Amino acid sequence: MDIFDAVGNTPLFRLRRIWREERGISIYGKGEFLNPSGSVKDRAAKAMLMDGLSTGRLRPGMEILDATSGSTGIAYAMMAVQIGCSVTLCMPANVSRERKQLVKAYGGSIIETSPLEGPEGACRKAQELMRAASDRYFYPDQYDNARNWQAHYETTAEEIWEETGGAVTHFVAGTGTGGTFVGTLRRLKERDPGIVGVLMQPDSPFHGLEGLRHICTAQHKGFFDASLADREIAVDTEASYAMTRRLAKEEGLLVGISAAANVLAAIETAKNAPDGAVIVTILCDSGIRYLDEPVWTMGGN
Ligand SMILES: Cc1ncc(COP(=O)(O)O)c(C=O)c1O
Repeated sequence: MDIFDAVGNTPLFRLRRIWREERGISIYGKGEFLNPSGSVKDRAAKAMLMDGLSTGRLRPGMEILDATSGSTGIAYAMMAVQIGCSVTLCMPANVSRERKQLVKAYGGSIIETSPLEGPEGACRKAQELMRAASDRYFYPDQYDNARNWQAHYETTAEEIWEETGGAVTHFVAGTGTGGTFVGTLRRLKERDPGIVGVLMQPDSPFHGLEGLRHICTAQHKGFFDASLADREIAVDTEASYAMTRRLAKEEGLLVGISAAANVLAAIETAKNAPDGAVIVTILCDSGIRYLDEPVWTMGGN
């Protein structure tokens, strides 16, 4: 087995304490933090790099270049070691210190862009570098690359379908690129058109939910497909911090803030769901990445 084989097939955890199973409704979190680099983005990174290798656009010795809020970058950096490539990532400067350290631990390089310009500024920088030296780089362009959402269409959705024995009724997720939301729901709705798609959104464009975008106000929506969302739920940053701590202390799940935001939206969904609903959400990344951040340092223990 190599690192690529270890991506996916993550367990589906039943949240028994955070949600007391009223009216036979159950909530499950898919343990994406157990992927080899610690996040759901291993699936998309693997699919995009494999596509580059199989089409010959990525060859050992080349440099992988992309814009990322951190998780995809960590996945690229880990996988590049196996392929024999270097990695340069454009990231807003306010990405957490731990994320930058993880990229560097795998030997990756970071170009910091203005925090005020957010993910869009990081994308502009990557495009500028690509235009200046297109022979040097493999630029997966995760915001527009169909292999990103297809990775979830082919793997995440099928795993959820299998793991719930086809009983899933609701899928709840937020969006960074939208790969997880779009790919998983597109396939699940093909399996069962009655499955309800719930889009979790930060409650404001200026939020502390690392890795997530306020997709309604994002300038560039890429492959995001709003028609898959039957319902939208806005989530507050402070409430997500509190849920991050509860998941660790009550469920033994040390996950990141976007995972906790997903769980909050799943609970909100459960309150209005029909009896016996099976609600599935994504536990996007590991909480170990956030131990030096306000979620834990400001009254977290
Ligand atoms: C921590 C975290 N959660 C969730 C997401 C959303 O994933 P996607 O890009 O599939 O929408 C990201 C994306 O980078 C992320 O970093």
